[in-house]
Amino acid sequence: MEFSSTSKPIIASNISPESIQEYRKEISTLPKENGWSQFQDLCSYQDFWFYPIFLQGAMFARDHFEAQASDIFLCSPMKTGCTWLKALSFAIATRTQFDDSNIPLRTTVPHDCIPFLEYGEYSTAAGPKIPLIASHLPYTCLPRSIIDSGCKIVYLCRDPKDTFVSMWHFFRKIVENNKPGEGDLVSIEEAFELFCKGLSSHGPYWEHVLGYWKASLERPGKILFLKYEGMVKDTEGCVKKLAEFFGCPFSLEEERDGIVQRIIKFCSFESLSNLEVNKTGKQVKKDAFVDNSAYFRKGKVGDWRNYLSAEMGERLDNIMEDKLSGSGLTFRISPQE
Ligand code: A3P
Repeated sequence: MEFSSTSKPIIASNISPESIQEYRKEISTLPKENGWSQFQDLCSYQDFWFYPIFLQGAMFARDHFEAQASDIFLCSPMKTGCTWLKALSFAIATRTQFDDSNIPLRTTVPHDCIPFLEYGEYSTAAGPKIPLIASHLPYTCLPRSIIDSGCKIVYLCRDPKDTFVSMWHFFRKIVENNKPGEGDLVSIEEAFELFCKGLSSHGPYWEHVLGYWKASLERPGKILFLKYEGMVKDTEGCVKKLAEFFGCPFSLEEERDGIVQRIIKFCSFESLSNLEVNKTGKQVKKDAFVDNSAYFRKGKVGDWRNYLSAEMGERLDNIMEDKLSGSGLTFRISPQE
């Protein structure tokens, strides 16, 4: 995979003030529900719930983004491990150019190494500077050219209980940081009720997962479907799978030289979360900022047990089982696992 070593994170949004006005107008006509805080409603768009901040870019991409066949998309619902997937993917794809000492991930948060489609962080004039682009958009909301061009897609999802807990903490931090003293996020119990009704950013969660799951069955060579828990359990297998999927498999020599292990270690939670940029840096997105540290909380499977009762867990598992029934996909962990 060719990466230009001079390519920089693309941080300027391409969305003009006029377009923003147009999209704001379009968004204002959408059905709305109370979100998880008093600051932003969730808007219903193409059968999914979105915060307006994500919708403007999605609409711009819908109208203007032209995928190149060589683009590879890293898609995921929020809080399923996208930061980790970006770091691993970047390290895999640039491994012949960088080592641990000079890799941009050392000084740049993974989100600025691989851009997000919804933030307009790509160049429509010259095509993307790097072939990896991330998105939280549901499959059916992706710009048509991504599907028509036959682009490859990696999809990452996660146990909904851990995803929910991770999301609640993340939004609480954003609200606290950006609106200090002006109110709070709803309680975790209230947010849980909303999540179970499908009311969450890019939700319903099960519809997001099902869309990509079905697409991965229809287009197996084009969509690689991963779970966070699987990545934790067999990181080496996943890293090799990703490299093969990207079209740059590890050679025997690279494996012998420990390159796979080097990438895994560098991108581990412990390593990334202890880098200065991820401990103290900030990302400014639209009108809000996010501390980079908010992307690194615990990185544990099953942390939901510290925040939700067993009954709440069972309830969400049952909802998922019902919604996914007949699809062949499950998030229930078997007793052997
Ligand atoms: P927790 O909140 O459960 O700790 P996203 O990157 O999609 O926003 O997801 C964030 C979740 O991924 C957080 O989960 C975060 O801690 C975890 N995460 C971030 N970096 C990770 C890494 N290198 N390895 C494993 N998990 C990681």
